[in-house]
Amino acid sequence: MDDPQKVAAYVEAGRENGVMAPVYMFHAANICEVIRAGDVVVDLACGPANQLVMVARLNPDAHFIGVDMSSPMLEQAKELISRHGLNNVDLRHGDITDLSVFAGNSVDVVVSTMALHHLPNVVALKRTYSEVARVLKPEGGIYMVDFGHLKSGRSIDYFAHQYADRQPELFTLDYLNSLHAAFYLEDIRQAAHSLFKQARLYSTFLMPFMVALKSPARRGPDMALAIKFAAMKRSLPSWHQKDLADLKTFFRMGGLSCALLG
Ligand SMILES: C[S@@+](CC[C@H](N)C(=O)[O-])C[C@H]1O[C@@H](n2cnc3c(N)ncnc32)[C@H](O)[C@@H]1O
Repeated sequence: MDDPQKVAAYVEAGRENGVMAPVYMFHAANICEVIRAGDVVVDLACGPANQLVMVARLNPDAHFIGVDMSSPMLEQAKELISRHGLNNVDLRHGDITDLSVFAGNSVDVVVSTMALHHLPNVVALKRTYSEVARVLKPEGGIYMVDFGHLKSGRSIDYFAHQYADRQPELFTLDYLNSLHAAFYLEDIRQAAHSLFKQARLYSTFLMPFMVALKSPARRGPDMALAIKFAAMKRSLPSWHQKDLADLKTFFRMGGLSCALLG
């Protein structure tokens, strides 16, 4: 993902009022649940760091390392991190299928959002999960979420064009390509097998348009954080609040809930 126009469209979609805002908020809450103060958190394929920065701002006592193989994306990430004056985030240029820069059992939490479908095949997906299993501490946390491959082309088209009137055409096309490139739920289940001691696989109800591998919550009830999420939710335009509520419902019906989102 080095094409400047694609990078710009993706960055735009993730900004405060961009079409991805409710999705980032949903993932941020789930990620926060698996983080504790003092943790080292690695974000695989962090892209322009829209998600990473949101989570790092909410967890000033944790340290974050974003890994990505695209220099233009990392440039965007660097700019966003410095704009927010964050000193708890580092970036590394690298391939997520090879995490040899991290020692075994050295990472407290691994996260990844909407990126695994960029991997070329199931072998690369399996290698990535094996690397996660190697670097993660035994009691570590996981939240790795991505699109799932829908069986019918009509469903893919429906999801891809759902917000076409609210976003640049390039982003709609990119989303369509992502949904086509997404792995099937069954392939994800088999590839992620090495992590099932620490995490469970969830998908949205009826149609697995999103699939999340999540460990049990690692922080206790956190009223201050729940209040922050409630305020963030209220600040969203009403159509984004509806998107967030829908995502919450479809995941809850698939077994995944998040106390921080109420
Ligand atoms: C759609 S973006 C997602 C970015 C971010 N996680 C988010 O939620 O906004 C996908 C990112 O995956 C990165 N990527 C794809 N394959 C990769 C690989 N094998 N290793 C590292 N980064 C990769 C791309 O460079 C791109 O920045």
